[in-house]
Amino acid sequence: MEYAYLAKVYDHLMEDVDYEQWIDYIEHFLDKNLISKKDRILELACGTGNITVPLSKKGYELIAIDRSIEMLSQAQQKAVALNLTIEFYQQDMLNLQVQELYKTILCLCDGINYILDLKDLRAFFQKVYSLLREGGVFIFDISTYYKLKEVLGGNTYGEDLGDITYLWENFFSEEEETVEMDLTFFQINRNGFYEKHKEFHIQKAYRHQELQSLLKETGFSSVESYHDLSFNQPRENSHRIFFVCRKP
Ligand SMILES: C[S@@+](CC[C@H](N)C(=O)[O-])C[C@H]1O[C@@H](n2cnc3c(N)ncnc32)[C@H](O)[C@@H]1O
Repeated sequence: MEYAYLAKVYDHLMEDVDYEQWIDYIEHFLDKNLISKKDRILELACGTGNITVPLSKKGYELIAIDRSIEMLSQAQQKAVALNLTIEFYQQDMLNLQVQELYKTILCLCDGINYILDLKDLRAFFQKVYSLLREGGVFIFDISTYYKLKEVLGGNTYGEDLGDITYLWENFFSEEEETVEMDLTFFQINRNGFYEKHKEFHIQKAYRHQELQSLLKETGFSSVESYHDLSFNQPRENSHRIFFVCRKP
């Protein structure tokens, strides 16, 4: 299962990510759309809570969902350590079971790339739209087609982290427009032997224009897209694109 073993090293792999910058960036759009701290945020694919926890620390109320119990458990531990009240639920975001409507829905750091089928993505956007209140915003990002094909595709990464050593091999399929990620972990057990664990991920490479059209078709009145954590237009070689979609 995805993010079962990876949950143990996820935060280490994300060490170079400036989450403070992500939080400031997201807050900019919340402020711009007059979202107050009292408006509960629904966060999808929250992972280990790297966005959830800082937003909660800033005073936002959040409900956070992920399908990996291992990732949620890391997130929960961080929230408990800081005495924060965050509702975490294990759910598949393609089959969301939530009761209320929200002013903000977030899905950050590749969550959308894990939706492999265009039909599922269309239904997901419609569901998100239906869960937004009038004037609400849906903010998400993608790893771009360019990044998955030209940067990750065909490349292998690895690191010796002491207790755990990992190998991360990436294969891009032109036909499927996906990147297959083959992760191998070696961890020393109590007896001093290495245990080998495997995990397999697939991410879909979506094109910017394809998403833009789909979101407009869903009914969002404005769909803004930006090059990686900036306020500039996406470029041909952007690695990440953020989308800010507003319900009329
Ligand atoms: C790259 S991590 C991002 C985590 C977090 N948003 C962050 O910014 O660090 C992607 C997360 O998406 C979750 N995910 C992927 N598909 C999902 C689905 N269908 N439903 C719920 N969570 C999903 C994975 O379990 C994983 O925790």
